[in-house]
Amino acid sequence: FKDPAPLDLKQYIREVPDFPKPGILFYDISTLIRNPEAWQVATGRLAQAVARFQPDLLAGIESRGFLTAAPLATRLGCGFTMLRKPGKLPGKTIAHKYSLEYGEDELHIQADAVRPGQRVVVLDDLLATGGTLAASIDLLRKAGAEVVGASVMIELLALGGRKKVDVPVTSLLTYE
Ligand code: PRP
Ligand code: MG
Repeated sequence: FKDPAPLDLKQYIREVPDFPKPGILFYDISTLIRNPEAWQVATGRLAQAVARFQPDLLAGIESRGFLTAAPLATRLGCGFTMLRKPGKLPGKTIAHKYSLEYGEDELHIQADAVRPGQRVVVLDDLLATGGTLAASIDLLRKAGAEVVGASVMIELLALGGRKKVDVPVTSLLTYE
């Protein structure tokens, strides 16, 4: 991957005020994904960051983490596995429940998705409070993974999410 002349990826991320709730500023990657050049550059840069972790397997968090992880697995020549909401994965699964600001959520992985000790990097589009990423790491460990890192496209610094995550985290774009 050869990074072309400086391309500011933030220009391709649409900022939508008051979505999904009043007072929330939503960073929308739809406008990045739909631009082939910008998406090539974004996935190329993320692939470079993830390659340093020397992963055997990438894990993507439903649903926008799938978009982030799948193209990297192709580029890096490693496997890809899905961390999904309940009731979506066939066969035996391992579950992990975690609490959110309001209520609880749960993620699953197929019980045979990870071979013991495989080096896994977990991917998502965005790091906010860090709850989703921390839960994903717990789940991957239950499944036998050695979680060697986490990478996201966008990090919201003000929420301090990376403090909840006990593996190295890389982010492509940060916002205050
Ligand atoms: C968003 C985002 C991350 C998570 C970050 O997902 O894609 O997965 O929230 O928040 P946190 O750091 O505070 O946990 P969302 O739940 O909106 O679902 P989606 O990916 O299916 O759109
Ligand atoms: Mg998500």
